[in-house]
Amino acid sequence: MKCYAIIFLIFLILSSPITAVPTAKYDRIKAVNYANKYCQNPNPSYEVLSGADCTNFASQVLFNGGIPYDTNKIWQPYTGAWINVISFYNYLKKDYLAKDCKLTELKPGDFIQYRNSTSHVWDHTVVVVKGGADPTVDYHSSNRCNVKHSGVLSFGKDMFRGVCITK
Ligand SMILES: *[C@@H]1O[C@H](CO)[C@@H](O)[C@H](O)[C@H]1NC(C)=O
Repeated sequence: MKCYAIIFLIFLILSSPITAVPTAKYDRIKAVNYANKYCQNPNPSYEVLSGADCTNFASQVLFNGGIPYDTNKIWQPYTGAWINVISFYNYLKKDYLAKDCKLTELKPGDFIQYRNSTSHVWDHTVVVVKGGADPTVDYHSSNRCNVKHSGVLSFGKDMFRGVCITK
């Protein structure tokens, strides 16, 4: 009797979804809600990096969408990978959190980065809040909500790259 109870208990544990290894799943709705809530007025819980807050904002969106800090502490407030356009990109690619993707593949919660047409440096990160042929984006520095990707690109940028989160 007791034994049956234990076997049944083991069966319950094994069949329970709780025993599944927890993997970070990106919650795009949460991410976009965060972006739309704080695109204009920054979240007071975070530092504002004056004039260079775009990737800090993008990192906050990703984190608040459920992507945890890495165990090596490479990506957390306010490391290079958290605040710097190129380091953020390299981090996401290296840790298999993201892949390069086409404009039309971008979903809400993904990112687009831009290269400056004067300096030829990748210097801007924005958050996609709506996909499509010309995605809608939110960003910081300056702080903007619901603007078109084409508008960002046409203002002193000569290249862009889509960064699709794969989690
Ligand atoms: C491009 O880079 C220059 C030099 O760093 C900067 O002054 C300018 O604001 C940048 N343009 C855009 C559109 O970000």
